[in-house]
Amino acid sequence: MFKIQRTIIICIILISALSTNAQTIHINTNNMSLVYNVSNSKLYQLHFGPVLSSLKGIEYTGLIYNEAYPSFGNGQSDEVALIATHADGSIATDLVYKKHTQTTSDNIQTTTIQLQDERKPFYVELNFKAYQKENVIEQWVKIHHKDKGNIRLEQFASSAIGFKAESYYLTHFYGGWAKEMMMVEEQLTNGTKCIETKRGVRSTEYENPSFILSLNQKAQENNGEVYMGALAWSGNFKFGFQVDDQERCQMIAGINPFASDYLISSSDTFLTPRMILTYSNSGKNAASINLHRWSRKYNLRDGDQRRPVVLNSWEGAYFDFDETKIKNMMDGASEMGVEMFVLDDGWFGNKYPRNSDKAGLGDWQVNKKKLPNGIGSLIDHAESKGLKFGIWVEPEMVNPKSELAENHPDWIIQRMNGREMLLERNQLLLDLSNPKVQDFVFNVVHKLLVENPRIAYIKWDANRHLQNFGSTYLETNQQSHLWIDYTKGLGSVIERLTTKHPQVIFQACASGGGRVDFGALKYMHEFWASDNTDAYDRLFIQWGTNHIYPPIATGAHIVKSPGHQTRRQIPLKFRCDVAMGGRLGLELQPSNLKKEDILFTKSVIDSYKKYRHIIQFGDLYRLQSPYDNDGFASIKYVTQNKNEAIAMVYSHEFHRRNERNLLKLKGLDENGIYRVVEINKISKKSTVDCEGMEISGSILMNTGIKVDLKKPYTSLVLYLEKIEN
Ligand code: DGJ
Repeated sequence: MFKIQRTIIICIILISALSTNAQTIHINTNNMSLVYNVSNSKLYQLHFGPVLSSLKGIEYTGLIYNEAYPSFGNGQSDEVALIATHADGSIATDLVYKKHTQTTSDNIQTTTIQLQDERKPFYVELNFKAYQKENVIEQWVKIHHKDKGNIRLEQFASSAIGFKAESYYLTHFYGGWAKEMMMVEEQLTNGTKCIETKRGVRSTEYENPSFILSLNQKAQENNGEVYMGALAWSGNFKFGFQVDDQERCQMIAGINPFASDYLISSSDTFLTPRMILTYSNSGKNAASINLHRWSRKYNLRDGDQRRPVVLNSWEGAYFDFDETKIKNMMDGASEMGVEMFVLDDGWFGNKYPRNSDKAGLGDWQVNKKKLPNGIGSLIDHAESKGLKFGIWVEPEMVNPKSELAENHPDWIIQRMNGREMLLERNQLLLDLSNPKVQDFVFNVVHKLLVENPRIAYIKWDANRHLQNFGSTYLETNQQSHLWIDYTKGLGSVIERLTTKHPQVIFQACASGGGRVDFGALKYMHEFWASDNTDAYDRLFIQWGTNHIYPPIATGAHIVKSPGHQTRRQIPLKFRCDVAMGGRLGLELQPSNLKKEDILFTKSVIDSYKKYRHIIQFGDLYRLQSPYDNDGFASIKYVTQNKNEAIAMVYSHEFHRRNERNLLKLKGLDENGIYRVVEINKISKKSTVDCEGMEISGSILMNTGIKVDLKKPYTSLVLYLEKIEN
């Protein structure tokens, strides 16, 4: 008998254009099908939606969407995925099907479809990975050619997908500094609606590269057909949704081609970023769960590893600290049960000390005045208190007042011809299209980690947009490559670093949640969701963020009150209960807390540690939206075996005598019996009558429980444990 270590069923179908089976390509997961058909040598999309158990007769249904990858010059006048100027100056491209391959291994079906221009040696390869259990399809495109001379690409989408319904409702996530991932939903009308960013860096400060498209009705949590998508790319992106005269909707999504023409020679390959798509016929909550499960397993760095509780020094100290102050903060953090201390901005620069955001950025030597004994002494102290140590860097950027700017002015992105450098937060951007600059940025962090091998966490910040468009490195005819090459350069630096230092946790921060995307999350463990730490505003920010991105990756910190941004007074319990909805941390000076606040925060951290497996690895159910006008919000996390759950209820307005909240839970086992226990309690009496009771999943989900929250900024957290099947 021989042991099979992994059951791999590999089925390889190599189908050439000559084969009789060449007509239909079925890309599918357990619940979703994407079907292409070859007709007159062209590849068309026939279906994207619920899984089809048989494709027999699909080509006769008459439902034909656009070409699978429509190109400019193919005879149609709609939005296109591809525009190319060929070496001879001609601008038409007409792609025909050549062949495809499909393999299935474990949970992943991989499909590659080869297309070629009908006249020229110009090739487009459509790639798909279909994750069976998670119901996610990843799509990306490779473009290359064998022409003499360069081809200029002017449009290069990752994905072109058609939808068919009577009406379409698009939800997207706009924002700005301190208000990231705000949700807005609108009905699409004829014409093209675009969501995009042109800022190069910190895209989520304008628009997040993600969307929800609901068919025939506004997106509902638990019913209706809903598509969700996100581009794994930290740079400029553009998603166009065109509703045409036949009520079809065509999405073209990828890198924003704005001012980004890209030349490729016959030895180059242009690779687009991955577009991630999912579909649900039971509303958007199920689609979010698909993305969360998929990302934890296949995209998010170490998505199966528990995240530590962090105290980050920023709001507790800003630039104003020395060794003693930081060590005192560590003592306070340790007393409350924090596991990771992160030293934020301000620890470096000597000729130009980093005592404000005006100087020193780029000079990554420890500031001798503030930290005379170096980082090692801080790490020793942290470890003596049972804490791991992390540190802030912003290696893509530079203050003009720095040794780096003095020594390497050519490394800075600039508008050339003596034009004024446009500052933002007193800083400029390094040119990551330049391999030398990539090496510099890599070495800043690599050296820090080699010299201090006990650094366990890097907070990677980025505090400006690109704007000064121009590179001293790129050739004159390649200046328009800058936006794309910057983002690719950044990706390659972070990939190198994370490969060299696999044990270090990385956080993507960009003035808060400016860099929240599956491209960054391939290498980073988490993101700082927003510099806005006001717990009321965070209800909205985290609500929007967790539609697409998983709670385990969402940095959410308890801060002092009144908060630094809004000055709103919010009770500690509410601040703790909101932060507990993500990767819990603290952002304050522990010595400013009263004794009873320290004790309460410690008890919350203890509970979080006990139950974090539910929040970090469970499924998130959205119960009541903060966007509804009833002044309540609630969410719930359930382990995948439905044995444990955490429910969080927030009252963010005043509720009069009869305005009580009826909470209907979701995702439990109908037949299971659950014990209901309130955690993070501040008084003996619970705000639910059923505290300590045993109640069936069916009652909890269908009848609901009355929650007695009256005042603004009051909240309740329940732990539910299944005690009987
Ligand atoms: C912006 C970040 O979002 C903050 O958390 C903090 O790290 C500052 N930068 C430091 O300059």
